[in-house]
Amino acid sequence: MMPFSLAGKTVLITGASGGIGSETARVCAQLGARLVLVDLSEPVQIAQELQAKGVNVQIAGFDVRDRRATEDLVAQIPELDAIVANAGFCPWDDWNDPDWDDAFHKTIDVNALGVINLLRPGLDRLIRQGHGRIVLVSSVAGRMGGLKASPHYVIAKGGINALVKWLARKGAPHNVTVNAVAPGATATGMVADQTFDETAIPLRRLATPQEIAQPIAFLCTDAASYICGTTLDVNGGVFMN
Ligand SMILES: NC(=O)c1ccc[n+]([C@@H]2O[C@H](COP(=O)([O-])OP(=O)(O)OC[C@H]3O[C@@H](n4cnc5c(N)ncnc54)[C@H](O)[C@@H]3O)[C@@H](O)[C@H]2O)c1
Repeated sequence: MMPFSLAGKTVLITGASGGIGSETARVCAQLGARLVLVDLSEPVQIAQELQAKGVNVQIAGFDVRDRRATEDLVAQIPELDAIVANAGFCPWDDWNDPDWDDAFHKTIDVNALGVINLLRPGLDRLIRQGHGRIVLVSSVAGRMGGLKASPHYVIAKGGINALVKWLARKGAPHNVTVNAVAPGATATGMVADQTFDETAIPLRRLATPQEIAQPIAFLCTDAASYICGTTLDVNGGVFMN
């Protein structure tokens, strides 16, 4: 088996209809993976695109805040080798807004509790089988406060950077590695109505979804077998650890 390969592996990706999630599905499929793709509604479009190329794709539609639905999916997948906890939500709001507390709770629930809903049963399953990879999708916001994000999102993604280490310590003795990718501003639907000062980015441009998907896929492969508990910064140089 080539180390930079996902041949014969099954990769579960949440947020698979979105910019980074759908591109991660394409890259993992190119590396030979079978896919389980999840989003709020079944990610039919990306599934059909990849099935037309002969890729084995299973789809599911539910909210990652739904603990029961998430646990049911993890229990019923026949094979599971890697999990990409990518689904995310970023309201571009003002913490002075009268309804902001509601946005706070929703943002924490989707970006933090939603990840736990997936990885509580997911890590347990990978530990029981004695191998596996987990990749969380964090953000530069959780590393250095973000370029424009509101504090609920910064808190949630900062929490992901801590959670990755907690999960990695639990998984490592069982040959399960847990890591995160922390993207900078990336040209997806999430930032479609935002403008960024690209001169403040050392590489002078936003990331493409593919430039985030490739490191995520790499962390799912055997080539990343000794990377454990890290948060990989993929941000054009905005934040250098
Ligand atoms: N685009 C950026 O600039 C950027 C930067 C840093 C981090 N990120 C992170 O990358 C990940 C992917 O974001 P993206 O840029 O592709 O955005 P996107 O909006 O294109 O995709 C996000 C996907 O998550 C899904 N989703 C949202 N809430 C969900 C829920 N409760 N249950 C199930 N699915 C849900 C959405 O339907 C959508 O398909 C997110 O975790 C995001 O926070 C994005």
